[in-house]
Amino acid sequence: MVVLSHRTDTATDRWIEMYDKIKKCADYIRTITDIVPKTAVVLGSGLGEYIDATEILASIPYGDIKGFPISTVAGHMGRFVFANVSEVPVVFMQGRVHYYEGYDITDVVLPIRVMRALGAEYLILTNAAGGINPVFRPGDFMLLRDHISCFLPSPLIGSNIDELGVRFPDMSSVYSIALRDKIKAEAAKCDINLFEGVYLQTSGPNYETPAEIRMFSALGADAVGMSTACEAIAANHAGMKIVGISCISNLAAGISKTPLTHEEVTETTNRVKQTFKKLLTIAIDSTK
Ligand code: HPA
Repeated sequence: MVVLSHRTDTATDRWIEMYDKIKKCADYIRTITDIVPKTAVVLGSGLGEYIDATEILASIPYGDIKGFPISTVAGHMGRFVFANVSEVPVVFMQGRVHYYEGYDITDVVLPIRVMRALGAEYLILTNAAGGINPVFRPGDFMLLRDHISCFLPSPLIGSNIDELGVRFPDMSSVYSIALRDKIKAEAAKCDINLFEGVYLQTSGPNYETPAEIRMFSALGADAVGMSTACEAIAANHAGMKIVGISCISNLAAGISKTPLTHEEVTETTNRVKQTFKKLLTIAIDSTK
């Protein structure tokens, strides 16, 4: 039974619709595979080929799932892939949708809720981000310690579906300290330099102005990007244990001496993809 609180008629209708959509997407996936993933992974820029080295057990294009949001960004393939990594059953998202593509924020986080409905307890979010912290160089990696998401609407706005999580979720510790500790220890053993910091999400698709970056810096942000924080909010609401890893693909606007381009982002993520892949394996191992 769906229990709704804080309802208005239209909001309630929309939330019944959303809950129904999550269930229908998960039910469709269940007609293809009965694998119950322990860990869900969102593959960001440069990591799409990670699954080439895994034995794919099932693969479901987003386009086959009725009502599922489909990415319009070049280079973001859209499919779920099920595979075992170090004996952990994983569901990968090869490609994600972004708020700037024009989807409602609740649709942007729908895939996270679907993976949760399939059974995933852990969520690993990866992305490319602009470096704000003056210590960062393109090609560095940052584990998310926390995030700033209040420049976007919350994906939890609307009547709460109590099956998914509580109305007012605590956000004091979104990114699991225990998993971060394990990942940092393992990365150090592998000689991977891993920073830790605060990620700030903008709506995009435009990059920031230098004045915005100065403001973000004053607010305590170490890196900026156009994804991830809203996904973490939905996953935290649903009780998942979360890890976030950013590849610093460029210096943020005003810090960089050159104009920002998508090409620079993909060039950097390509250059360091072996290390990014290794870090992802370490992160998946931490969820064993
Ligand atoms: N700003 C916002 N998003 C980004 C950036 C950036 O500098 N680099 C990669 N994604």
